[in-house]
Amino acid sequence: MAFARLSTVVALALSAATLSNAALTKRITCATGQTTANAACCPLFSAVEFLQTNLFDGGECGEEAHSALRLSFHDAIGFSIHGGKGGGADGSILAFNSTELEFHANGGIDDIVARQFPVFEGLNLTAGDFVHLAAAVGTANCPGAPRLQFMFGRPPPVAPAPDLTVPEPTDSVTKILARFADAGFSPQEAVALLSSHTIAAADVVDPTIPGTPFDSTVGTFDSQVFLEVLLKGSLFPGNGSQPGEVLSPLHGEMRLQSDFAISQDPRTACFWQDMINNQARMMSEFKAAMAKLQVLGQPRLIDCSDVVPVPAPFAGPIKFPASFSQKDVQVACHASAFPSIATVAGPAPTVAPVPGS
Ligand code: HEM
Ligand SMILES: *[C@@H]1O[C@H](CO)[C@@H](O)[C@H](O)[C@H]1NC(C)=O
Ligand SMILES: *[C@@H]1O[C@H](CO)[C@@H](O)[C@H](O)[C@H]1NC(C)=O
Ligand SMILES: *[C@@H]1O[C@H](CO)[C@@H](O)[C@H](O)[C@H]1NC(C)=O
Repeated sequence: MAFARLSTVVALALSAATLSNAALTKRITCATGQTTANAACCPLFSAVEFLQTNLFDGGECGEEAHSALRLSFHDAIGFSIHGGKGGGADGSILAFNSTELEFHANGGIDDIVARQFPVFEGLNLTAGDFVHLAAAVGTANCPGAPRLQFMFGRPPPVAPAPDLTVPEPTDSVTKILARFADAGFSPQEAVALLSSHTIAAADVVDPTIPGTPFDSTVGTFDSQVFLEVLLKGSLFPGNGSQPGEVLSPLHGEMRLQSDFAISQDPRTACFWQDMINNQARMMSEFKAAMAKLQVLGQPRLIDCSDVVPVPAPFAGPIKFPASFSQKDVQVACHASAFPSIATVAGPAPTVAPVPGS
């Protein structure tokens, strides 16, 4: 009897496996051996390899990966749901670089564009497909990142975006949220997009300290930035206070005024706090918001997400940097309990700059 029931369970499990195999066999195999949902995606596998070799130092979560993600935001946010603010995720920032790099909010983007342009010229992709594929691949090099969607088939951009579409760290929360809303993003989605600052550093906020990270784990897509932005600040990492910068808790770390203001504002504080040590939530919300960002202004694309490499996982949990604990947290959300977090042993660290910045 018990044996009979077991074999029923096995039979059910086998038929479920057969069903999911049937779903999988709808995929096609490219001449190069990889499988994908659509034959049009096949050439992208070699493009991804080309990017890894020629842009990302063989697949690293370094300066080029971080800046590829930033570039995708500055490109795509040139868009309004009401029209008149650019073609969105169209690659205009690369193709019309002489115009868009003049915009104040694009400080530091000139380095990225100069680094990416020859790689772009080495591939048969439109500027939009290039910028957003590079962002998905670069992000995938960072342990803990979600595997981002990649939609393919953007036409060449027709014009540069106008100025003043990219938020500045000196902007108020009201101004920042209004800009995100104008591009179609809720306050919760804006916070989700700021997960990107977990793999981010500043070159031009304080030009005396290029490559100064926003958290102590700049090579990992963890929720550390959401924790560290809440810690009581005590110092400026470089040549004193700069516009867009507020007090940081750690030597070698920079805190953006905008990140801090968003972490404290009643409209966003709980979204911010809820990300802390919640890797699954951060990954899924960031992935969903990036999926929207990547197709702004770009209808009728083909889903080629299976060309994007699968990121390494982040084991977690996150920890307070050494010498910090709950007493140092500037809690701004009282609707949910602050998560319980251990502290790294030892003296307070000095965060190292990102190499190559
Ligand atoms: C409130 C909106 C935002 C503001 C005010 C802002 C501001 C900044 C600033 C000032 C920097 C440093 C630039 C430098 O000095 O080199 C930076 C870096 C960065 N930002 Fe943002 N950002 C915002 C949203 C985003 C979003 C939505 C993304 C991506 C989805 C993003 C991705 C990045 C990345 C990856 C870097 C680091 C680039 C690198 O290390 O090379 N940011 N951001
Ligand atoms: C900007 O784009 C032009 C083509 O429009 C290209 O020749 C140039 O190298 C690009 N500039 C940078 C800094 O990459
Ligand atoms: C370049 O890409 C287009 C569009 O994806 C494709 O139709 C064309 O065959 C490609 N050309 C080469 C030389 O690979
Ligand atoms: C440091 O800041 C001061 C005043 O804010 C400025 O005059 C000086 O030029 C800066 N030094 C460097 C090396 O940028």
